[in-house]
Amino acid sequence: MRGTQSINHLGHLTIGGVDTTWLAQSFGTPLYVYDVALMKQNVNLMKQAFEEFPVQWQIAYASKAFSSVAMYQLVDQLGLALDVVSGGELYTAIQAGLDPKHIHFHGNNKSEQELSFALDQGIGTIIVDNDFELDMLSELTVARQQSVDVLFRITPGVEAHTHEYITTGQEDSKFGFNVNDQTIENAVRLAQSHSLMNLKGLHWHIGSQIFESMGFVTAIKNMFGHIKAWRDRLGFTPEILNVGGGFGIQYTKEDDPIPLDTHIREIVQQIQQASEQLKMPVPEVWVEPGRALVGEAGTTLYTAGAKKHVPGIRTYLSVDGGMTDNLRPALYQSKYEAMNASKADIKADQTVSLAGKCCESGDMLIWDACLPETLPGDLIAVFCTGAYGYSMANNYNRLPRPAVVFVENGDAQLVVRRETYADLVRHDLDYTLSLSGVGNKS
Ligand code: LLP
Repeated sequence: MRGTQSINHLGHLTIGGVDTTWLAQSFGTPLYVYDVALMKQNVNLMKQAFEEFPVQWQIAYASKAFSSVAMYQLVDQLGLALDVVSGGELYTAIQAGLDPKHIHFHGNNKSEQELSFALDQGIGTIIVDNDFELDMLSELTVARQQSVDVLFRITPGVEAHTHEYITTGQEDSKFGFNVNDQTIENAVRLAQSHSLMNLKGLHWHIGSQIFESMGFVTAIKNMFGHIKAWRDRLGFTPEILNVGGGFGIQYTKEDDPIPLDTHIREIVQQIQQASEQLKMPVPEVWVEPGRALVGEAGTTLYTAGAKKHVPGIRTYLSVDGGMTDNLRPALYQSKYEAMNASKADIKADQTVSLAGKCCESGDMLIWDACLPETLPGDLIAVFCTGAYGYSMANNYNRLPRPAVVFVENGDAQLVVRRETYADLVRHDLDYTLSLSGVGNKS
């Protein structure tokens, strides 16, 4: 059991003091349920670890993990900064009422329109990914006579041990300036001579779902080698080091991540130590976790439906969602655990394969879920779906995306409404070509 999860006298799973069967009846299924107290606890753990050190620090929530107006408002209430990676995330944050000064804009291919929008809003920091973007931003700032703070994203040449699609720090990556390339030095020189782009520091991100601190520490060590060289050659000393996110969480019992506060301590200590060695002021330490703040706080509720027994092979139990609300098992072979939330007090002694409802054999949520005897209509909870669940949800097979509910202290609040069939055709237009006569576009 994670966070505020518990089992009530009816044998039902509760989250945030709210009976999940009541949530399912009230809001329907599939339903994403977020344990607000657990999100707050995760934030506090990181903050307290930072507070142990005499350093300036900042936690920016990497909102690609779960982006919505309410989530942004919670982030703001908790005093975090925000990391966005698209004009759409930025727009959502503005709609949520966030101060753009607290927002950092990431992305390896920001468009001119996105950069202009960010500048219009008075964005706090742009994390410049490459020289193409740097030139574009340079021109925009000059044309507008508007200054902006920037960090340069570097690929530090460190491979984190995680799924290859979610590693980003290795040299062979689409992200960032290659640390060993001349381009980065040219970029630093350009920024130094630019009156409107304030180069505040550096950013790197080594990957996601990382269990140990070694990758973070190695990246810092590597980067300080380069920082020394750039200081000596270019006279550039970063005021800010943003070491990214990627702190791992426990999806299943097999996952054994170190605690969040340990990550923070190891990172800060390493940066302090490396700065001392170079006799340079300790830069501000920024981190940008996504998954670690919201992943374990999210649970998806499904209603069990059809059951199919294949003698001698397996039993499939289908639920009313699947790869549309949780793409991760299909995309990364990610593992999850489940519970029969309406029979949470009954011993789980059967192995079933939890299937999604999409027309796709690969739409399997959990191959070997351990559940009690489960009947159609029972409520199934799949845990740890708070990160990259809703944010990667899609409408494959024209399934409407589920609703999202925040629960805390016995209260539940709908924060994203369920899509309707009408939403599904909202952008569709009638076919009229054959009515408009012979083609004339050639
Ligand atoms: N900062 C940067 C620059 C990133 O690229 C990412 C994640 C983060 C921070 C946050 O990483 P986190 O703390 O959430 O691990 N869809 C994949 C994860 C992709 C992560 C992409 N970048 C998944 O479902 O596992």
